[in-house]
Parts: sequence; structure tokens; C-alpha cells
Amino acid sequence: MSALDRAAFQRTLTTRWMGQELTVLDAVDSTNRYLKARRERENLALGAAVIADRQTAGRGRRGRGWWSPPGQGLYTSFILYPGEHLSPVLSLLAGVAAVEAVRAEAGLPAGLKWPNDLLIHGRKAAGILVEGGTAPIPWAVIGIGVNVAGTLPPAVADGTTLEAAAGRPVSRERLWARLAERLEVWCERWLIEGGQPVLAAWRAESLTLGHAVEVIGADGSTVRGVAADVDPEGALLLDTGSGRLRLMAGEVSLRYRGGAYAPRSDPDAS
Ligand code: BTN
Repeated sequence: MSALDRAAFQRTLTTRWMGQELTVLDAVDSTNRYLKARRERENLALGAAVIADRQTAGRGRRGRGWWSPPGQGLYTSFILYPGEHLSPVLSLLAGVAAVEAVRAEAGLPAGLKWPNDLLIHGRKAAGILVEGGTAPIPWAVIGIGVNVAGTLPPAVADGTTLEAAAGRPVSRERLWARLAERLEVWCERWLIEGGQPVLAAWRAESLTLGHAVEVIGADGSTVRGVAADVDPEGALLLDTGSGRLRLMAGEVSLRYRGGAYAPRSDPDAS
């Protein structure tokens, strides 16, 4: 008997293509790696998805891991073929879809820390890892990990789960279906209208813009400034007082004033 029931994930799914081809696994090293490997071997349908009950080598941004125990999280990846649209904006798009799905299914006030950490009450509940390439045609794998239930280990500092935040059970199956739906809506909009509506939606969900932040580079160097905007490539524009810096998500990590992981709620903290 499998730990996850594939039919339960698709029971409330209303998409036309996102997640319609679905693989459900008890365990995998990484759902992103799994989809990438399958893409190399076979023709995966647009929107093909994988869900695993646990990951043995879940991967986060900037070479970090993603804690992925059984029964506690939603670990899922989707494949897209975005043609000439392949761009870092896809990562912001996935963040917007995740916020909308969490809001719809768990009723929680989620927001986004640039580029796409999903925060609830200042704690991280979900992360997104988008990987892509151009051969033989442009492709992207959108990987999303959500802390749904259970207890987080001390090493997952600044984290929370949806159930802890909501104070009630949250269905991984229904959450996944909402996620697929919001991803489909936003991907279609992006392919038809371009990046501007995605950027506008991301700005509306942002918990970063307007805040004083510290940006830490791969070499440990720190730049301070006010997060002013995101540009059409999804880069963060930072006003430093002596000019405007353009920062790409893959290269830096972001903290708030005083090294805090999330923005403080008092107005002076911005
Ligand atoms: C981050 O915030 O660092 C991104 C975390 C992304 C984790 C998800 S879990 C499903 C998919 N498979 C992976 O190996 N990583 C992503």
C-alpha cells in the first residue's frame, strides 16, 4: 500500500494540462532531479508532475538541502516548455501561484520574500526551486516544497508549517490541486501577456519591497539598502543610498535589517 493515493490528488483537480500527467512516489531523491532525468529519456507532456511522500536528497536554492520527511510535506515538481519565454520571471510566477494556493486551501495570509520564499507570520512555510535548460527545446522544472504538518527540526530555523499556522489539518492532496490550478492560470497568462502581469502580482504579494534589507553575496560580502523593485528579469533593484544595484536571485541571499530572516511587523522596521 502506497503512502500517497494518486487518485486523491487528482480528485479535485480542475486543470486542462497542469498536473494531468501525474506520478506519485513513496520516495525519491529529489522530485526536480526525477523529472529532469525523465525529460532526458522520454517526451514528457507539458505540465507533467511528480509528487513524493519523502525525498532523500531534497534540494533547495543555492546548493542547500530541503528537509523532506514522510507524511509532513508536499514535495512536487512540474515541467514546462516555455519557448522563448524561459526567464527567471518563472520563479516569481511560481511564488505567486504558491501564495494563492496556500491562501485558498489553508486560509492563511501568505506573502513572498524575494525571490520566492513563502512566509506566514514571518516564518518560511514553502520554498521554490526552478531549474531550466534550452536543449533540445527550452524547458523548466518548477519544484515546490511546502511544510504542511509535523514538527520542524531545530536546523530548519525560521520555519513553520501550514497546520501550525492554521491550527487545523491541511490536505496535501487538495493543496497540490490548488497549486496546479494557479500555476496553469499564471503560466497561460504569462505566455499570452508576457511578464508584466506576473510582476504586478508578485509586487502585490511581496514582503520585501520597501524594506531595509541586507544582501549577502556568495563570497560573504554584504550590501545594505532599500528593496525598491523587481525588474522584468525578476532581479531585485536595491537602492543603496549611493546608487541602484541589480541583484539576481541565484547569486545572493537576503536578510532584513539587523540580520532578521523576515520583516518585523512594527512599521519602524521597514
Ligand atoms: C528553497 O527555498 O531553497 C527551495 C526549496 C525547494 C524544495 C522543493 S521540494 C520539491 C522540489 N524537489 C527538490 O529537490 N526541491 C524542490
